Amino acid sequence: MEKADKHIYPVFNKILKRSDKEILLNQKGKVIWLSGLSGSGKTTIAKGLEKALHQRGFICQVLDGDNIRSGINNNLGFSLEDRLENIRRISEVSKLFINCGIITINSFISPTDKIRALAKDIIGAENFIGVFINAPVSVCEQRDVKGLYKKARAGEIKNFTGVDTVFEPMENAEVEVRTNKMSAADAVEKIMHYVLPYISMQDNKE
Ligand code: ADX
Repeated sequence: MEKADKHIYPVFNKILKRSDKEILLNQKGKVIWLSGLSGSGKTTIAKGLEKALHQRGFICQVLDGDNIRSGINNNLGFSLEDRLENIRRISEVSKLFINCGIITINSFISPTDKIRALAKDIIGAENFIGVFINAPVSVCEQRDVKGLYKKARAGEIKNFTGVDTVFEPMENAEVEVRTNKMSAADAVEKIMHYVLPYISMQDNKE
């Protein structure tokens, strides 16, 4: 029988490596993963972080729940099974970005330890910086930026995180910001301070 690999011509030694691209960009590709309730401030902080990093010369890509769910994941709902699939696909997409040396800022509720562990596993622990955007449900509900808590309380939305389905606090986060105790600008500052050594070529933190 013919060997299965007879007509296969691997080109790994000719393909540019991630490190080649990181040198070109003068930065290290990492995923900054923001987890928190709806209304906790994830999107605001993701935007602030992108701007602050861009100003310092870093190239970033923000991936955000509402955007991703209106495109690549528009066939998914909010059961725990669909949320797991949502995060699985996002994690695979994130890997493509970091393999190009790009810093990816991910803003997803990602409500359970199991879901976040899946993300970390796909992305690789060495590429993953977990950030807990922490605010009590009562505060998020009071803000109710999108009016969704009101709808959830009225029974118009089912499986709403923090109302009738679980949110597990991110206990193993590298950074935690309490957005009911500090401004969004201070939260961005705190996260920046933590991530800079990991994304800078000049620093040796992996
Ligand atoms: S995740 O749980 O799968 O990580 P994701 O971050 O993608 O969620 O999407 C959350 C966004 O979807 C919220 O910011 C909100 O605007 C919207 N949304 C609509 N229905 C729900 C729901 N049942 N629970 C939570 N968020 C919802």
